[in-house]
Amino acid sequence: MRILVTGGAGYIGSHTVLELLNRGHEAVVVDNLVNSSEKALARVEELTGKKPVFYNADVRDAEKLDEILAKEPIDCVIHFAGLKAVGESVAKPLEYYDNNLGSTIALLYAMRKHNVKHIIFSSSATVYSGDNKVPLSESSKTGNCTNPYGWTKYMCERILRDTATADPTLSVVLLRYFNPVGAHPSGRMGEDPSGIPNNLMPFISQVAVGKLKELAIFGNDYETPDGTGVRDYLHVVDLAKGHVAAIDFAVEHTGTSVFNLGTGKGTSVREMVEAFERVNGVKIPRHYAPRRPGDLAEVYADPKKSANELGWKAEYGLDDMVRDSWNWQSANPNGYDTED
Ligand code: NAD
Ligand code: UD1
Repeated sequence: MRILVTGGAGYIGSHTVLELLNRGHEAVVVDNLVNSSEKALARVEELTGKKPVFYNADVRDAEKLDEILAKEPIDCVIHFAGLKAVGESVAKPLEYYDNNLGSTIALLYAMRKHNVKHIIFSSSATVYSGDNKVPLSESSKTGNCTNPYGWTKYMCERILRDTATADPTLSVVLLRYFNPVGAHPSGRMGEDPSGIPNNLMPFISQVAVGKLKELAIFGNDYETPDGTGVRDYLHVVDLAKGHVAAIDFAVEHTGTSVFNLGTGKGTSVREMVEAFERVNGVKIPRHYAPRRPGDLAEVYADPKKSANELGWKAEYGLDDMVRDSWNWQSANPNGYDTED
């Protein structure tokens, strides 16, 4: 099939494009490179021997999108394009609502005009309300988001659902990712955050490579086995494969379907740091710091629905995640700006 991948030069998008090409699909990427590098797509080509079609364009640009879809026959869309930094979304809510909602709406108009019937959307576990019991299943309560980024995901889910209700021939798959980490096992592709990373794994990797001095562990007084926060980390290659499974599901179903993409296993900050040190033979200087506002003690998925209906299960474990993160970071200390 021919898949339009918005945000396909980004972290998860580029790994997904690689899996799509490996499975015999064709990929048409639309990305404005606001948080990514075209080099990620060159690496996809290097690893697969296939070249994804690339348009440097903003998904909100309706005219451009119309032009692209008139030229490129598309069977299915995967919509990754969006801004994703939680703290920045608090400081710049309008930019986040404009970009994340605007791109989704423009895309749905273009799909309607060009008769494209399947869309997979990058949602997040952040749409679940903080007062649920873990593990979180797809029917756990949503809402009460703690920041504008989370609300954009919540609102995009709503927009997509309502659009599928109005057009019963449409198929919408909402994928709620837990904590994507890791990198392609080749060490040629990975996460390349700009500035100081907010998320745990890129922070640890940058401490390990000497770009940052010390990890602050946010809170050691949570009601968890070792007092530090627990999350459901999943390898980005597993996550990418989840999208390939979602395409197969989308072409066979109409209406809206929701799936958690997680491992179902919780890992604490302490366990993560210790695994990174043990597997990679490096030291991560660290200290305990106060809790980060908005953080929950434990977040992990119930992944049964994805296993039963998508036929997808995470295969990589924690040791693979820390090994591949380090493999990428140590070979590319400055991400895609590192000289080959
Ligand atoms: P990323 O920033 O690496 O990728 C997003 C891509 O979208 C970037 O390449 C960026 O340049 C592009 N983009 C942004 N706005 C655009 C626009 N208007 N037009 C065209 N391109 C645009 O982030 P990622 O980690 O790969 O995340 C992909 C998606 O998954 C995002 O929607 C994100 O919110 C969602 N998500 C990510 C995580 C995570 O932890 N990484 C967790 C849950 C959900
Ligand atoms: C964060 C976002 C969430 C987003 C997700 C994407 C917040 C409040 N939530 O979730 O909306 O969908 O990223 O993956 O930002 N930690 C440290 N030190 C650090 C960084 C993190 O101890 O320097 C801890 C955190 O307190 C948490 C765990 O590591 O317990 C994971 O943090 P992070 O990687 O930021 O992910 P989330 O908080 O789950």
